[in-house]
Amino acid sequence: MFLRQREPLSFDRSVPGKRGMDLPKLDVPAAKDTRPAHLKRSGFDALPELSEVEVIRHFTRLSKWNYGVDDGMYPLGSCTMKHNPRLNEKVAGLRGFTDSHPMAPDAFVQGNLGMLFTLQEWLKEITGLPGVTLQPSAGAAGELTGVMLIRAYHLSKGAKRRVILIPDSGHGTNPATAAMAGYEVVELPSMPDGTISFDDVTDPVNGKVRKGLKTLVSELGSEIAGAMITNPNTIGVFEYRFKEISDLLHSVDALVYMDGANMNALVGVARPGDFGVDVMHLNLHKTMSTPHGGGGPGAGPVCCAEKLIPFLPVPVILRDTEKVGEGEVPRHTYRMEWNRPQSIGKVHSFYGNFGILVRALTYCLSHGGDGLKTATLRAIVNANYIRTRLKGSYALHIDSPSLHEVVFSDTNQAKHDVHTLDIAKRLIDHGYHPPTIYFPLIVPGALMIEPTESEDKGELDAFCDTMLQIAKEAEENPDLLHQAPVLAPLRRMDETTAARKPILRWTKQL
Ligand SMILES: Cc1ncc(COP(=O)(O)O)c(C=O)c1O
Repeated sequence: MFLRQREPLSFDRSVPGKRGMDLPKLDVPAAKDTRPAHLKRSGFDALPELSEVEVIRHFTRLSKWNYGVDDGMYPLGSCTMKHNPRLNEKVAGLRGFTDSHPMAPDAFVQGNLGMLFTLQEWLKEITGLPGVTLQPSAGAAGELTGVMLIRAYHLSKGAKRRVILIPDSGHGTNPATAAMAGYEVVELPSMPDGTISFDDVTDPVNGKVRKGLKTLVSELGSEIAGAMITNPNTIGVFEYRFKEISDLLHSVDALVYMDGANMNALVGVARPGDFGVDVMHLNLHKTMSTPHGGGGPGAGPVCCAEKLIPFLPVPVILRDTEKVGEGEVPRHTYRMEWNRPQSIGKVHSFYGNFGILVRALTYCLSHGGDGLKTATLRAIVNANYIRTRLKGSYALHIDSPSLHEVVFSDTNQAKHDVHTLDIAKRLIDHGYHPPTIYFPLIVPGALMIEPTESEDKGELDAFCDTMLQIAKEAEENPDLLHQAPVLAPLRRMDETTAARKPILRWTKQL
């Protein structure tokens, strides 16, 4: 019933004078409004005036229209919408964590610093890299931090390099980050199997030649600051020649940044430090089951090789160990080290998003090393199960083995004038959040599905059955898909205007 109802804005329901509560009469003189004029809002008309029942029903209805990981499968590729274990929440809510002041001296917060240090040790072990900062508040913030480390490294050698190489299969944040850090982005072409091409590639459509990695490294040489490589890439494919790529870049002292947001496909199986990565980030909200949340609070810790450690943001969290007593029992103390002259500075206030970091460590400790590896393997098996069940009906534009996500193309359905957007909208009618669509750009009409390890076979089958039914509908009744969603409160919206010109604040003129 709720799904068919159209919910007006609370402002539109407002009736002047209507109240949700009564305050006792003032028994003191009313305070004067002493706020300086420049601190007062202008153009703000009023708050909506509603009864308690209206307010409760309004927000309850809206909450029921929402869709989250606790409602059902959330196959949004590249986002890794995995289950957020309740244990994480319980531990993050412990008073020792929630009640300590971020400016408390080190001696008062040994438990907090110990927690951060322990998480750093887990991340070092997982990535095979010896340096860590937990400060960056999201994947993209980690990327910027990592590229700033690369820049600091070259500057420390007196070199101001200008280029960052990025494959066309990279995540969109990679070129944005490189540009933000002041670099020129040069694109690396992919081969038909979706991995980076060492050789030049001729575009079959326009005949243009795109320079491959070997040519770019030999032509640009010491102009190259580094390469940013999403691995597994956005098609869910592992760059199986990564070590060769690293070696080639290192031959001109260019550094290798790995966008490790997809580490949920590698944890416990492969360590980037072992295949030549110099610096990388992890998305704790993807790999370590911490909640996603509108760009933050999140955490995108950066791990780096020895040669980049001097440039890490301050403070660096360190552990001192002394042996005490007759048994020489080790006693640890933790401290924040600020005096690091080559540091790029701070990238977040205090420790970073502390509560998220507690949740990530809880995830690591509760799973243990073997459990983390099992999660990785299950994520891969789940994506491949979907791939196997759907590949007869949906086209695989790139046929390389999938890791944690699988990318289909709409080319089979396009023959019936049904496109990716129609399929995504129809999934809403069936009660699913749509997968990521039209990304990565190198796949026409991409449908990028990432089930994560959280789904069991029953859920995967139900999703695949629905996708197969939609493929049948596309053949037999394409119009049904053009109309979809037919059950959602709002049907097809102007998504471009919504994305480009969002109206985020109510005004009377609306
Ligand atoms: C491969 C990849 N890189 C970078 C990012 C950016 O991370 P964030 O959204 O935390 O900034 C994402 C986000 O999902 C990603 O999938």
